Amino acid sequence: MIQLTLIRPDDCHVHLRDDNQMCSILPDTVRRFARAIVMPNLKLPVSTTELALAYRKRIYSALPVAMKGHFTPLMTLYLTDNTPSSEIIRAKESGAVHGIKFYPAGATTHSNSGVTDITKCYSTLETMERADMPLLVHGEVTDPETDIFDREKIFIDKVLIPVIKRFQKLRIVFEHITTKEAVEFVKETSNNIGATITAHHMLLNRNAMFNSGIRPHHYCLPVLKHETHRRALIEAAISENPKFFLGTDSAPHSKFTKETACGCAGIYTSHAAIELYAEVFEQANALEKLEAFASFYGADFYKMPRNKDTISMIKENWNAPAQIDFSGEALIPFRANEVVTWKMTD
Ligand code: NCD
Ligand code: ZN
Repeated sequence: MIQLTLIRPDDCHVHLRDDNQMCSILPDTVRRFARAIVMPNLKLPVSTTELALAYRKRIYSALPVAMKGHFTPLMTLYLTDNTPSSEIIRAKESGAVHGIKFYPAGATTHSNSGVTDITKCYSTLETMERADMPLLVHGEVTDPETDIFDREKIFIDKVLIPVIKRFQKLRIVFEHITTKEAVEFVKETSNNIGATITAHHMLLNRNAMFNSGIRPHHYCLPVLKHETHRRALIEAAISENPKFFLGTDSAPHSKFTKETACGCAGIYTSHAAIELYAEVFEQANALEKLEAFASFYGADFYKMPRNKDTISMIKENWNAPAQIDFSGEALIPFRANEVVTWKMTD
Protein backbone atom coordinates (compact mmCIF):
# COMPACT_ATOMS: atom_id res chain seq x y z
CA MET A 1 0.00 0.00 0.00
CA ILE A 2 1.38 3.39 -0.97
CA GLN A 3 0.70 5.97 1.70
CA LEU A 4 1.33 9.70 1.69
CA THR A 5 1.37 11.77 4.87
CA LEU A 6 1.59 15.55 4.79
CA ILE A 7 1.44 18.39 7.25
CA ARG A 8 -2.21 19.44 7.02
CA PRO A 9 -2.62 21.86 4.09
CA ASP A 10 -4.38 25.23 3.84
CA ASP A 11 -6.69 26.21 0.99
CA CYS A 12 -5.64 29.73 0.06
CA HIS A 13 -8.73 30.41 -2.09
CA VAL A 14 -12.16 28.89 -1.60
CA HIS A 15 -15.83 29.81 -2.02
CA LEU A 16 -17.80 28.54 0.97
CA ARG A 17 -21.08 30.27 -0.02
CA ASP A 18 -23.56 30.86 2.80
CA ASP A 19 -26.41 29.48 4.91
CA ASN A 20 -27.70 26.01 3.97
CA GLN A 21 -25.52 25.78 0.86
CA MET A 22 -22.48 26.33 3.07
CA CYS A 23 -23.66 23.66 5.53
CA SER A 24 -23.81 21.15 2.66
CA ILE A 25 -20.24 21.64 1.46
CA LEU A 26 -18.18 22.95 4.39
CA PRO A 27 -17.24 19.46 5.74
CA ASP A 28 -15.37 18.70 2.49
CA THR A 29 -13.00 21.60 3.10
CA VAL A 30 -12.70 21.07 6.85
CA ARG A 31 -11.86 17.41 6.49
CA ARG A 32 -8.76 18.28 4.47
CA PHE A 33 -7.63 21.78 5.37
CA ALA A 34 -6.74 23.47 8.64
CA ARG A 35 -7.45 26.95 7.33
CA ALA A 36 -8.90 28.56 4.24
CA ILE A 37 -8.86 32.01 2.72
CA VAL A 38 -12.60 32.54 2.28
CA MET A 39 -13.74 34.53 -0.74
CA PRO A 40 -16.12 37.44 -0.07
CA ASN A 41 -18.28 37.26 -3.23
CA LEU A 42 -21.58 36.47 -1.54
CA LYS A 43 -24.80 37.81 -3.02
CA LEU A 44 -24.36 40.69 -0.63
CA PRO A 45 -20.60 41.25 -0.97
CA VAL A 46 -18.58 41.00 2.23
CA SER A 47 -17.30 44.54 1.91
CA THR A 48 -16.85 45.55 5.55
CA THR A 49 -15.15 44.09 8.60
CA GLU A 50 -18.51 43.92 10.31
CA LEU A 51 -19.92 41.75 7.50
CA ALA A 52 -16.77 39.60 7.52
CA LEU A 53 -17.03 38.98 11.26
CA ALA A 54 -20.72 38.06 10.90
CA TYR A 55 -19.88 35.71 8.01
CA ARG A 56 -17.09 34.12 10.06
CA LYS A 57 -19.57 33.51 12.85
CA ARG A 58 -21.95 31.78 10.40
CA ILE A 59 -19.06 29.59 9.19
CA TYR A 60 -18.20 28.57 12.73
CA SER A 61 -21.87 27.78 13.42
CA ALA A 62 -22.09 25.69 10.24
CA LEU A 63 -19.25 23.41 11.38
CA PRO A 64 -20.48 19.95 12.35
CA VAL A 65 -19.95 19.30 16.08
CA ALA A 66 -17.14 16.81 15.50
CA MET A 67 -15.24 19.37 13.43
CA LYS A 68 -15.51 22.30 15.84
CA GLY A 69 -12.09 23.61 16.77
CA HIS A 70 -10.48 21.95 13.76
CA PHE A 71 -10.82 24.73 11.22
CA THR A 72 -10.02 28.43 11.01
CA PRO A 73 -11.68 30.52 8.30
CA LEU A 74 -9.44 33.38 7.21
CA MET A 75 -11.70 36.17 6.08
CA THR A 76 -11.35 38.60 3.18
CA LEU A 77 -13.06 41.85 2.25
CA TYR A 78 -14.54 42.66 -1.13
CA LEU A 79 -12.88 45.77 -2.55
CA THR A 80 -15.16 48.34 -4.18
CA ASP A 81 -14.49 51.71 -5.81
CA ASN A 82 -15.47 53.25 -2.48
CA THR A 83 -13.75 51.12 0.16
CA PRO A 84 -12.39 53.72 2.57
CA SER A 85 -8.95 53.49 4.15
CA SER A 86 -10.61 53.41 7.57
CA GLU A 87 -12.16 50.05 6.60
CA ILE A 88 -8.69 48.64 5.91
CA ILE A 89 -7.51 49.77 9.34
CA ARG A 90 -10.57 48.20 10.95
CA ALA A 91 -9.97 44.98 9.01
CA LYS A 92 -6.34 44.85 10.10
CA GLU A 93 -7.16 45.54 13.72
CA SER A 94 -9.82 42.81 13.78
CA GLY A 95 -7.14 40.16 13.26
CA ALA A 96 -9.78 38.18 11.35
CA VAL A 97 -9.30 39.65 7.87
CA HIS A 98 -6.30 38.41 5.92
CA GLY A 99 -6.73 39.97 2.50
CA ILE A 100 -8.74 42.36 0.37
CA LYS A 101 -10.17 40.84 -2.81
CA PHE A 102 -10.08 42.84 -6.02
CA TYR A 103 -12.71 41.68 -8.52
CA PRO A 104 -12.75 43.78 -11.68
CA ALA A 105 -16.44 44.70 -12.05
CA GLY A 106 -18.18 42.09 -14.19
CA ALA A 107 -15.25 39.65 -14.25
CA THR A 108 -16.99 36.70 -12.58
CA THR A 109 -19.76 35.44 -10.25
CA HIS A 110 -21.15 38.24 -8.03
CA SER A 111 -18.64 40.81 -9.17
CA ASN A 112 -21.08 43.55 -10.11
CA SER A 113 -20.00 45.63 -7.12
CA GLY A 114 -16.35 45.12 -8.02
CA VAL A 115 -13.81 47.72 -9.01
CA THR A 116 -14.52 49.69 -12.19
CA ASP A 117 -11.06 51.27 -12.32
CA ILE A 118 -8.27 50.34 -9.94
CA THR A 119 -6.88 53.88 -9.92
CA LYS A 120 -9.99 54.80 -7.93
CA CYS A 121 -8.65 52.57 -5.14
CA TYR A 122 -5.10 53.93 -5.04
CA SER A 123 -5.42 55.68 -1.69
CA THR A 124 -6.93 52.47 -0.22
CA LEU A 125 -4.06 50.44 -1.69
CA GLU A 126 -1.62 52.84 -0.10
CA THR A 127 -3.21 52.16 3.29
CA MET A 128 -3.06 48.42 2.61
CA GLU A 129 0.60 48.69 1.75
CA ARG A 130 1.29 50.54 4.99
CA ALA A 131 -0.85 48.14 7.05
CA ASP A 132 0.72 45.11 5.32
CA MET A 133 -2.73 43.88 4.24
CA PRO A 134 -2.49 41.64 1.13
CA LEU A 135 -4.37 42.40 -2.08
CA LEU A 136 -5.90 39.29 -3.65
CA VAL A 137 -6.43 39.75 -7.36
CA HIS A 138 -8.84 38.19 -9.83
CA GLY A 139 -6.53 38.97 -12.74
CA GLU A 140 -8.66 39.37 -15.82
CA VAL A 141 -9.58 42.46 -17.84
CA THR A 142 -13.29 42.68 -18.50
CA ASP A 143 -13.77 44.67 -21.68
CA PRO A 144 -15.85 42.52 -24.02
CA GLU A 145 -13.54 43.32 -26.93
CA THR A 146 -10.75 41.29 -25.39
CA ASP A 147 -10.67 37.61 -26.30
CA ILE A 148 -11.61 35.54 -23.25
CA PHE A 149 -8.41 33.49 -23.50
CA ASP A 150 -6.25 36.66 -23.43
CA ARG A 151 -7.88 38.38 -20.46
CA GLU A 152 -5.32 37.31 -17.88
CA LYS A 153 -2.28 38.08 -20.01
CA ILE A 154 -3.55 41.57 -20.82
CA PHE A 155 -4.46 42.23 -17.18
CA ILE A 156 -0.77 41.85 -16.26
CA ASP A 157 0.30 44.74 -18.47
CA LYS A 158 -2.73 46.96 -18.08
CA VAL A 159 -3.43 46.66 -14.36
CA LEU A 160 -0.93 44.62 -12.39
CA ILE A 161 2.32 46.22 -13.55
CA PRO A 162 1.15 49.79 -12.85
CA VAL A 163 -0.08 48.73 -9.37
CA ILE A 164 3.16 46.96 -8.56
CA LYS A 165 5.27 49.90 -9.75
CA ARG A 166 3.33 52.30 -7.57
CA PHE A 167 2.98 50.11 -4.47
CA GLN A 168 6.26 48.29 -4.31
CA LYS A 169 5.79 46.83 -0.84
CA LEU A 170 2.13 45.79 -1.23
CA ARG A 171 1.74 42.03 -0.84
CA ILE A 172 -0.28 40.68 -3.76
CA VAL A 173 -1.67 37.23 -4.51
CA PHE A 174 -2.35 36.74 -8.21
CA GLU A 175 -5.23 34.30 -7.74
CA HIS A 176 -5.84 31.13 -9.74
CA ILE A 177 -3.26 31.84 -12.44
CA THR A 178 -3.88 30.04 -15.70
CA THR A 179 -1.22 31.15 -18.19
CA LYS A 180 2.51 30.81 -18.76
CA GLU A 181 2.65 34.63 -18.92
CA ALA A 182 1.32 34.80 -15.35
CA VAL A 183 3.84 32.17 -14.21
CA GLU A 184 6.71 34.12 -15.77
CA PHE A 185 5.45 37.38 -14.35
CA VAL A 186 5.21 36.02 -10.80
CA LYS A 187 8.65 34.41 -11.03
CA GLU A 188 10.26 37.66 -12.17
CA THR A 189 8.67 40.03 -9.65
CA SER A 190 9.71 40.67 -6.06
CA ASN A 191 8.98 38.32 -3.19
CA ASN A 192 5.85 40.16 -2.09
CA ILE A 193 4.02 38.79 -5.16
CA GLY A 194 2.64 35.23 -4.92
CA ALA A 195 0.09 33.17 -6.84
CA THR A 196 -2.39 30.41 -6.19
CA ILE A 197 -2.86 27.52 -8.62
CA THR A 198 -5.96 25.32 -8.79
CA ALA A 199 -5.97 21.56 -9.32
CA HIS A 200 -8.43 21.79 -12.20
CA HIS A 201 -6.25 24.18 -14.20
CA MET A 202 -3.40 21.65 -13.87
CA LEU A 203 -5.57 18.64 -14.72
CA LEU A 204 -7.53 19.98 -17.68
CA ASN A 205 -6.94 22.07 -20.75
CA ARG A 206 -9.63 23.88 -22.71
CA ASN A 207 -10.53 20.81 -24.75
CA ALA A 208 -12.26 19.51 -21.62
CA MET A 209 -15.02 22.07 -22.13
CA PHE A 210 -15.85 20.67 -25.55
CA ASN A 211 -15.36 16.94 -25.19
CA SER A 212 -17.94 15.40 -27.58
CA GLY A 213 -20.29 18.23 -26.67
CA ILE A 214 -20.36 21.23 -24.36
CA ARG A 215 -19.36 20.45 -20.76
CA PRO A 216 -20.77 23.10 -18.44
CA HIS A 217 -19.17 21.52 -15.37
CA HIS A 218 -15.75 22.29 -16.82
CA TYR A 219 -16.55 25.97 -17.22
CA CYS A 220 -14.90 28.24 -14.70
CA LEU A 221 -13.19 31.61 -14.61
CA PRO A 222 -10.51 32.21 -15.53
CA VAL A 223 -11.51 29.82 -18.30
CA LEU A 224 -9.41 26.66 -18.94
CA LYS A 225 -6.51 27.36 -21.28
CA HIS A 226 -4.36 25.73 -23.97
CA GLU A 227 -2.19 22.70 -23.10
CA THR A 228 1.02 24.79 -23.14
CA HIS A 229 -0.35 26.88 -20.27
CA ARG A 230 -1.45 23.82 -18.30
CA ARG A 231 2.12 22.51 -18.50
CA ALA A 232 3.54 25.84 -17.37
CA LEU A 233 1.30 25.77 -14.29
CA ILE A 234 2.49 22.28 -13.35
CA GLU A 235 6.12 23.34 -13.80
CA ALA A 236 5.49 26.28 -11.47
CA ALA A 237 3.71 24.17 -8.85
CA ILE A 238 6.49 21.56 -8.68
CA SER A 239 9.33 24.08 -8.88
CA GLU A 240 9.64 24.53 -5.09
CA ASN A 241 9.34 28.25 -5.63
CA PRO A 242 7.52 29.52 -2.51
CA LYS A 243 5.67 32.13 -4.57
CA PHE A 244 3.33 29.41 -5.89
CA PHE A 245 0.90 27.75 -3.51
CA LEU A 246 -2.36 25.87 -3.25
CA GLY A 247 -5.72 27.60 -3.72
CA THR A 248 -8.53 25.37 -4.98
CA ASP A 249 -10.94 28.09 -6.16
CA SER A 250 -13.56 25.44 -5.48
CA ALA A 251 -16.73 27.26 -6.53
CA PRO A 252 -19.98 25.32 -6.14
CA HIS A 253 -23.08 26.10 -8.17
CA SER A 254 -26.21 23.98 -8.39
CA LYS A 255 -26.57 21.64 -11.37
CA PHE A 256 -29.60 23.67 -12.34
CA THR A 257 -27.62 26.95 -12.64
CA LYS A 258 -24.80 25.33 -14.63
CA GLU A 259 -26.82 23.19 -17.03
CA THR A 260 -28.70 26.03 -18.64
CA ALA A 261 -28.54 28.46 -21.56
CA CYS A 262 -26.28 30.86 -19.64
CA GLY A 263 -24.53 28.74 -17.05
CA CYS A 264 -22.55 29.93 -14.02
CA ALA A 265 -18.76 29.75 -13.89
CA GLY A 266 -17.19 27.55 -11.24
CA ILE A 267 -15.86 24.05 -10.63
CA TYR A 268 -16.38 22.26 -7.32
CA THR A 269 -13.29 20.34 -6.16
CA SER A 270 -13.41 20.50 -2.35
CA HIS A 271 -14.68 16.90 -2.11
CA ALA A 272 -11.33 15.65 -3.48
CA ALA A 273 -9.14 18.73 -3.26
CA ILE A 274 -5.84 17.47 -1.90
CA GLU A 275 -6.29 14.11 -3.65
CA LEU A 276 -6.49 15.88 -7.03
CA TYR A 277 -3.33 17.86 -6.32
CA ALA A 278 -1.64 14.57 -5.36
CA GLU A 279 -2.58 13.22 -8.80
CA VAL A 280 -0.98 16.21 -10.49
CA PHE A 281 2.23 15.96 -8.50
CA GLU A 282 2.43 12.18 -8.91
CA GLN A 283 1.98 12.40 -12.67
CA ALA A 284 4.81 14.96 -12.70
CA ASN A 285 7.03 12.64 -10.60
CA ALA A 286 7.11 15.27 -7.89
CA LEU A 287 5.00 13.84 -5.08
CA GLU A 288 7.67 14.77 -2.54
CA LYS A 289 7.16 18.42 -3.44
CA LEU A 290 3.42 18.45 -2.73
CA GLU A 291 3.73 19.15 0.99
CA ALA A 292 5.56 22.46 0.65
CA PHE A 293 3.20 23.67 -2.11
CA ALA A 294 0.09 22.64 -0.17
CA SER A 295 1.06 23.21 3.45
CA PHE A 296 4.05 25.56 3.78
CA TYR A 297 4.25 28.26 1.12
CA GLY A 298 0.73 29.65 1.52
CA ALA A 299 1.11 29.87 5.31
CA ASP A 300 4.50 31.53 4.88
CA PHE A 301 3.13 34.08 2.41
CA TYR A 302 0.27 34.96 4.74
CA LYS A 303 2.74 35.13 7.66
CA MET A 304 0.94 32.44 9.62
CA PRO A 305 2.52 29.55 11.52
CA ARG A 306 2.69 26.30 9.57
CA ASN A 307 0.22 23.66 10.71
CA LYS A 308 1.43 20.91 13.01
CA ASP A 309 -0.93 17.97 12.54
CA THR A 310 -0.99 15.77 9.45
CA ILE A 311 -3.31 14.19 6.91
CA SER A 312 -2.80 10.88 5.15
CA MET A 313 -3.82 9.54 1.79
CA ILE A 314 -3.39 6.13 0.20
CA LYS A 315 -3.05 5.29 -3.46
CA GLU A 316 -6.47 3.75 -4.06
CA ASN A 317 -9.10 4.35 -6.70
CA TRP A 318 -12.52 5.59 -5.65
CA ASN A 319 -15.33 7.18 -7.57
CA ALA A 320 -16.26 10.78 -6.82
CA PRO A 321 -20.00 11.01 -6.10
CA ALA A 322 -22.31 11.49 -9.09
CA GLN A 323 -23.81 14.41 -7.22
CA ILE A 324 -23.67 16.10 -3.84
CA ASP A 325 -26.54 17.62 -1.90
CA PHE A 326 -26.41 21.41 -2.09
CA SER A 327 -29.13 22.65 0.19
CA GLY A 328 -31.74 20.41 -1.44
CA GLU A 329 -30.40 20.92 -4.97
CA ALA A 330 -27.86 18.82 -6.81
CA LEU A 331 -24.22 19.85 -7.16
CA ILE A 332 -22.14 18.04 -9.76
CA PRO A 333 -18.59 17.76 -8.42
CA PHE A 334 -15.39 17.51 -10.42
CA ARG A 335 -14.88 13.93 -11.71
CA ALA A 336 -18.52 13.10 -10.91
CA ASN A 337 -18.88 9.32 -10.95
CA GLU A 338 -15.31 9.02 -12.22
CA VAL A 339 -12.12 7.75 -10.67
CA VAL A 340 -9.93 9.72 -8.28
CA THR A 341 -6.68 7.87 -7.61
CA TRP A 342 -5.76 9.07 -4.11
CA LYS A 343 -7.96 8.58 -1.09
CA MET A 344 -8.00 10.28 2.31
CA THR A 345 -7.66 7.81 5.18
CA ASP A 346 -8.81 9.94 8.10
C1 NCD B 1 -16.18 31.78 -8.76
C2 NCD B 1 -17.55 31.70 -8.11
O1 NCD B 1 -18.43 31.01 -8.60
O2 NCD B 1 -17.73 32.35 -7.04
N1 NCD B 1 -16.24 31.15 -10.04
C3 NCD B 1 -15.20 30.62 -10.75
O3 NCD B 1 -15.39 30.21 -11.88
N2 NCD B 1 -14.00 30.52 -10.21
C4 NCD B 1 -15.74 33.19 -8.83
C5 NCD B 1 -14.28 33.35 -9.16
O4 NCD B 1 -13.41 33.04 -8.35
O5 NCD B 1 -13.98 33.81 -10.27
ZN1 ZN C 1 -12.57 32.14 -6.84
